Amino acid sequence: MFTESPIRDLEAIIRSRTPLIMLESSEETQIVSLTRQISKRQQLKAFRWTVTEGLQAFDPDDQPLVSVTKSNEVLNFIKNSGSYSVFVLLDFHPYLQDAVHVRQLKDIALTYPKHFCTVMIVGFSLKMPEELLPFTAQFRLPLPSAEEVRGIVFDVAGEWGAEHEQRDVQTTNKVIDLLVRNLVGLTATDVRRLARKAINDNGVISETELPEVMRAKYELLGRDGVLTFEHETAKFSEIGGMARLRQWLEVRKEFFLEHTDEHLDPPRGVLLLGVQGCGKSLIAKAAAAIFKAPLLRLDFGVLYNKYYGETERNLRKAFETAEIMSPCVLWLDEIEKGIAVQTDDDGLSRRILGTFLTWMSERKKSVFVVATANDIMRLPPELVRKGRFDEIFFVDLPSPKNRRDIFLIHLRKRSLDPAEFDVDALVEAAHGFSGSEIEQAIVSGMYSAHAKRELLSQDDLLTELRQTRPLSVVMAEKVQETRDWASTRTVPCD
Ligand SMILES: Nc1ncnc2c1ncn2[C@@H]1O[C@H](COP(=O)(O)OP(=O)(O)OP(=O)(O)O)[C@@H](O)[C@H]1O
Ligand SMILES: [Mg+2]
Repeated sequence: MFTESPIRDLEAIIRSRTPLIMLESSEETQIVSLTRQISKRQQLKAFRWTVTEGLQAFDPDDQPLVSVTKSNEVLNFIKNSGSYSVFVLLDFHPYLQDAVHVRQLKDIALTYPKHFCTVMIVGFSLKMPEELLPFTAQFRLPLPSAEEVRGIVFDVAGEWGAEHEQRDVQTTNKVIDLLVRNLVGLTATDVRRLARKAINDNGVISETELPEVMRAKYELLGRDGVLTFEHETAKFSEIGGMARLRQWLEVRKEFFLEHTDEHLDPPRGVLLLGVQGCGKSLIAKAAAAIFKAPLLRLDFGVLYNKYYGETERNLRKAFETAEIMSPCVLWLDEIEKGIAVQTDDDGLSRRILGTFLTWMSERKKSVFVVATANDIMRLPPELVRKGRFDEIFFVDLPSPKNRRDIFLIHLRKRSLDPAEFDVDALVEAAHGFSGSEIEQAIVSGMYSAHAKRELLSQDDLLTELRQTRPLSVVMAEKVQETRDWASTRTVPCD
């Protein structure tokens, strides 16, 4: 089960005559088996202790003649009768808060040259008392590699078969590859649990199960903070226009997932600039769907406000989580709010920008960034410089053709038949409208119609459209300014 490296690392600690080893992990079985292998190689006696079973020697010949059950008994035993041994203490963390136990451990550490006993304290979350730290080494069990994860998935599939009249689990290599990639970053126990979940009761692992697996993985990481897991995704078929952007993503999806070409870097991300309500958020969601990856959203508002003074640390933690969740899409919504040039924040926004740019250029994992911004004037020039993002797209007000598509999409979404409407006239009346404003007009029109106990009519819709002053009119100058800026620096989505 183990590759050489964790054995070698732990063995090196034991041989370095460190009396106490602290091991934060819930993988007890693995740790016990690791210790078994090391103790054989080093010709040490080995024991495990649990609160229910007391002290058990790995080799029955080493079992003490008297029973050693209680926590203080085992420490006494180690100090007085132990010799050339390794003791794995499970469930021991509560006793680390007790002064007597701490003293006993310290005595064991101080008398190490008399008995050569190493004590390994294993627990999911350990807090070693200060006074023991000088005698303590920390050891971390490495997470399973992709190959080991694959092995676990096959084991679990085999077990499922054994429980179900030797039936084979139905799946494809491609889905297994996706599943394995998604499970990397978890402990062996969690991989096993989620693989089991993916097989379900029906004995099928299919792509439709994967989003659920990813959600479960995110929950297992137990990190609530500035990242949120977005459950809602979108399809490009629900978006009017954006053909070029869609094509751009389609061409890259295979490289994102499989990194098939050594000479081609996997896609890193796009910056979407544009007019409000024209579909930037929708695109972030649709990108996740195209890449078949979970969508994590980083909320800059929360980043700044929720944990005052810990902004950069939280940002780094968010990036770390995204890497564990990789392959994934990381959506940085309204990025200008996080890193706009501000003069009154003691350089915090500069540092945030620095942290972000460093991570962007150094990260190794498949995390595709979709950053969105409305107010491009507030974006620092470093961010929009060529090479930061793979591409900067401008999300403009929809063209007449795209407005047409948007009307069709939103009418159909509400079970209205576009054939009942003069869509050309609607498109004309919606000149200068964003997708969001078109949608709002349909929704308000439906309310008015409902009040009259009628179905939405062409007239209701035209009335709504005429009553709306779109943002592009209210803020004409700003929109024009944005477009001018974008014309030389960005690529259109269509
Ligand atoms: N091109 C489009 N096709 C279909 N629907 C659209 C389109 N653009 C916008 N909409 C509708 O408007 C809603 C709001 O759009 P979205 O939130 O994606 O805009 P945004 O550019 O992110 O706006 P903001 O800058 O306010 O965040 C969408 O949920 C969708 O229903
Ligand atoms: Mg948005």
